[in-house]
Amino acid sequence: MSNPPARIETASNAVELRLRVRLWRNKGARVALVPTMGALHEGHLALVRAAKERADRVVVSNFVNPAQFAPHEDFARYPRDLAGDRAKLEAAGGTDLIYAPETKAIYPDGFSTKLTVEGPGVGLESDVRPHFFSGVATVVAKLLIHCAPDFVMFGEKDYQQLLVVKQMVRDLDLPLEVVGVPTVREADGVALSSRNAYLTPEQRKVAGHLNRVLARVAERAKAGVSIPQAEAEGAAALLEAGFDRVDYVALRDAETLALLRNVARPSRVLAAARVGATRLIDNMAV
Ligand code: PAJ
Repeated sequence: MSNPPARIETASNAVELRLRVRLWRNKGARVALVPTMGALHEGHLALVRAAKERADRVVVSNFVNPAQFAPHEDFARYPRDLAGDRAKLEAAGGTDLIYAPETKAIYPDGFSTKLTVEGPGVGLESDVRPHFFSGVATVVAKLLIHCAPDFVMFGEKDYQQLLVVKQMVRDLDLPLEVVGVPTVREADGVALSSRNAYLTPEQRKVAGHLNRVLARVAERAKAGVSIPQAEAEGAAALLEAGFDRVDYVALRDAETLALLRNVARPSRVLAAARVGATRLIDNMAV
């Protein structure tokens, strides 16, 4: 759109959000939701741009979801800067409303319901973060019910999350389209992530290897090396590059994340590894 709105509106609970979305809909507008946890960067802004290509009105939600963090994880220190996020969205254009609910607006006292996700939600991230996709699916379902958009945008950066949300939307018959957006990367290939802010300059150099190792695993599998062998080489290369721990390097079916014998079907290579206390994930098409 050539005329981005001068000021972005705010809603802090479902009632306010629904009122605004209803007014837009009465004028025939199509609506897209971009769910985020804030600490916005160019990756998030790419989702906003992709949203604006499809919809007349764009809502960006900003909620650090306690349900997807385990007690030992970084919920307390996760970067929060709502004013900075607003400034970034205003500068970028394309956002009509920020939905920044209070925790009580999402999880009121006595909240007792959680979604569990099987299928693409089993394995990989779940093996290391068993609480994670249940927390994501529950909050995303609530955000979708609050906003009732035509489109919801997710980054391929969190590929398993994208598949989990697609599955959830199909299973719950939510009348909307889940749109996957390609990963935005730094010049050296590192995927933009709010957690990159935790890295020291030294660790940031190590992080640069993740993407290159994934590309190598994909090449080796395409050249006919067995998938377990290509994955093992990738894990060894990450440790060699300075990662402190490898949670997984996995080559899987791109649609279901099922195990594969070869890469004849569309496939995806995914990895999670830690440098110091920071856990990084990445993936790419094979
Ligand atoms: P968050 O990590 O803030 O990411 C919000 C969205 O931005 C996700 O769809 C994520 O995949 C996308 N994203 C992050 N980095 C990206 C990059 N470098 N390129 C493209 N897209 C990128 O993911 C979450 O929040 C939460 O789990 C959430 C879905 C909001 C539920 O709480």
